[in-house]
Amino acid sequence: MKFFVDTAEIDQIKELNDLGMVDGVTTNPSLIAKSGRDILEVTKEICDIVDGPVSAEVVALDAETMLAEGRKLAKIADNIAVKVPLTWAGLQTCKALSDEGTMVNVTLCFSANQALLAAKAGATFISPFIGRLDDINIDGLELIEDIRTIYDNYGFDTQILAASIRSANHMSECAKIGADVATAPPAVIKNMANHVLTDKGLAGFMADIEKAGIKIL
Ligand code: G3P
Repeated sequence: MKFFVDTAEIDQIKELNDLGMVDGVTTNPSLIAKSGRDILEVTKEICDIVDGPVSAEVVALDAETMLAEGRKLAKIADNIAVKVPLTWAGLQTCKALSDEGTMVNVTLCFSANQALLAAKAGATFISPFIGRLDDINIDGLELIEDIRTIYDNYGFDTQILAASIRSANHMSECAKIGADVATAPPAVIKNMANHVLTDKGLAGFMADIEKAGIKIL
């Protein structure tokens, strides 16, 4: 499973990228607003740091303006994936940009039918939002399973990019299901390293190191 990092914070992207943990980056208007940066400027900076796909989202609602925005975003760098919402206009834009050879990430997906339409429209990535479904008491992971089954049934190339990931548990469950990509905030990726028994075991080793005066350097 590829790891994308869901942030527009340059320092956090750099830190994880240096560790080989970043296969791509996703941003959205809320993350850009949080960064306080200009969208074109910060997206260019991210594209220069990361080799993999960097998703940058359009802000218009109609297909014509979305397409113009998408074309402008695509010019930032070769690794841009234009992110469009899963609306009819978004699907029209997805088809047009995909036909031009631009990677497209169709976002705000909350149903298997929406994912089916995005694949038909040539999406490179479909972004089902797990956490936001969980928030309304619908099992978000079940949607990832359903899309996996449907895409495998028909051999669609569209990659399942599990989004709105809120916990380390979401990450391992997505990997078990076979999501192609999971995008998560940096804190969630770091939290994957934590285990209470690791901490307990290390405390025991440290006590013995001190007792026995073990030194290596
Ligand atoms: O990039 C979109 C997505 O990951 C949003 O997550 O936590 O705001 O639902 P969240």
